[in-house]
Amino acid sequence: MNIEIERKWWKESVVYQIYPRSFYDSNGDGIGDLRGIIEKIDYIASLGVDVIWLNPVYKSPNDDNGYDISDYRDIMDEFGTMADWVELLDRVHQAGMKLIMDLVVNHTSDEHEWFIESRSSLDNEYRDYYIWRDGIDGNPPNDWLAHFSGSAWEFDEKTGQYFLHLFTRRQPDLNWENEKVRAGVHDIMKFWLEKGIDGFRIDTINMFSKVPGLPPVEAADGKLRWGGEFFMNGPRIHEFIHEMNEKVLAGYDVMTVGECPDVTPEMAIDYVGPERKELNMLFQFEHMSVDHPHEDKWDIRPFDLVRFKEIISKWQIELHGRGWNSNYLMNHDQPRSVSRFGDDGKYRVESAKMLLTFLMTLEGTTYIYQGEEIGMINSGLDRIEDYRDVEVLNHYKEAVRGGKDLEEVIESYMKMSRDNSRTPMQWSKEPNAGFSTVEPWIKPGVSWREINVENDLESPDSIIKFFRQLVKIRKENLTLIYGEFEQLMPDDQDLFIYRRFMDDEVYLSILNFSADNHDLTILPDHAQLLLGNYNDETEWLRPYEARIYRIR
Ligand code: GLC
Ligand code: CA
Repeated sequence: MNIEIERKWWKESVVYQIYPRSFYDSNGDGIGDLRGIIEKIDYIASLGVDVIWLNPVYKSPNDDNGYDISDYRDIMDEFGTMADWVELLDRVHQAGMKLIMDLVVNHTSDEHEWFIESRSSLDNEYRDYYIWRDGIDGNPPNDWLAHFSGSAWEFDEKTGQYFLHLFTRRQPDLNWENEKVRAGVHDIMKFWLEKGIDGFRIDTINMFSKVPGLPPVEAADGKLRWGGEFFMNGPRIHEFIHEMNEKVLAGYDVMTVGECPDVTPEMAIDYVGPERKELNMLFQFEHMSVDHPHEDKWDIRPFDLVRFKEIISKWQIELHGRGWNSNYLMNHDQPRSVSRFGDDGKYRVESAKMLLTFLMTLEGTTYIYQGEEIGMINSGLDRIEDYRDVEVLNHYKEAVRGGKDLEEVIESYMKMSRDNSRTPMQWSKEPNAGFSTVEPWIKPGVSWREINVENDLESPDSIIKFFRQLVKIRKENLTLIYGEFEQLMPDDQDLFIYRRFMDDEVYLSILNFSADNHDLTILPDHAQLLLGNYNDETEWLRPYEARIYRIR
């Protein structure tokens, strides 16, 4: 077979993302941990996935659940010890899988020793590791907004200056202009690579380079905008990533995926084009904002399939042969995909399988998130006391101050908040969803008695078993991984149908994103059904039906 694109293990991989805090609690303190993951390795391997991506497990005061790191070379107390981590890595490798770690270096925790030093005095040798500025007439240095509410600047009494934090005030941004910072990051990366990991998911990577002078946004209409144009895809970003590749990554056979909100396919190619020697792939976000305006995730609109198809097709086509896609429908920052793009009621099982079929028949590396393989749905938590995410808690305070309709606000959390995907993995009907012997750090989603791994495996309609078949079909038919993509019927509001082709092979993926029956007129006579999410093959499509055909 002649593959015009270079074959790589990471292109052919299916990645399973684990949010350790919510995966499995081995020691009964209500918090998931590394030994819990070790206990579940056989389960993960049984899915057929190739790579595990761990959300941050480093030492952290947990202002943002581990995305605020106080020691990059040690393990978070609640998660276990370095010895546990080493055992985990060994066990993952023994099971024939690989392990990638989250690298969070746009910012550190305010408890990281660099920041403790930095804030201690104006002339401390670490002062310039972070972004410090004088205020202007008692106000912050500029009008940028933090992602999790309020100004992106925090005043520090001790030295009378402000420091920049694009996320919470306990996540000060590193100053990437300082080459000692970059060298420090490279050392952290080498520390883990030398331990034998297989790559990194790099957090908020396109925010490292800020526009010099940190210009204000000053929206003419007086409405505050967040300032993204001055810190996303900044002037030195490619230089920084290229340097990281040259000095660190080039020496290892590892994979990298960068988290990159606000990029177009053209911009993405600058990050992932093989000749650029930067990253292997990135997480773009365009399809994640089909149901809300770009800058306000709480202003929720109905899901528009035509727009969604347009975005997916654009990325598939424009990156083909020039870069590599990573395909996902959810992660720890997004609500549950079944609730968002499928049907979390009557057709939950069908739509969960349909969405997995979608992910597994696109060009690119597939990422699934814990619980996606059993069709877990949004949490259903309807009281603010049950939420844990700093984004929600900060937003709620603002909503109270702003006199918003709080019932509506909670409804929007029930649809879009990150806690929807952070509730415990639902293992069984045992108390606490079989996740822990005690009440967990966050309540299990209300559906746990019905939706859990045990029930799924016992069901004749098992989603897990269907997923295993998808993995097998994808691995056996390289066209599904590397082939070109072409959309049919782009204006259809319910169906997503596309061809995948390479050399003389052609496949057809037919996905019904609706609860209605549909005529199926475009199918050639000789089409051979490889897999479908209903037990038989009808001449029409049923609600949330998914089929993969081989045409040639
Ligand atoms: C990324 C992470 C998110 C975190 C943020 C700040 O977007 O995925 O969970 O809150 O970065 O580190
Ligand atoms: Ca625990």
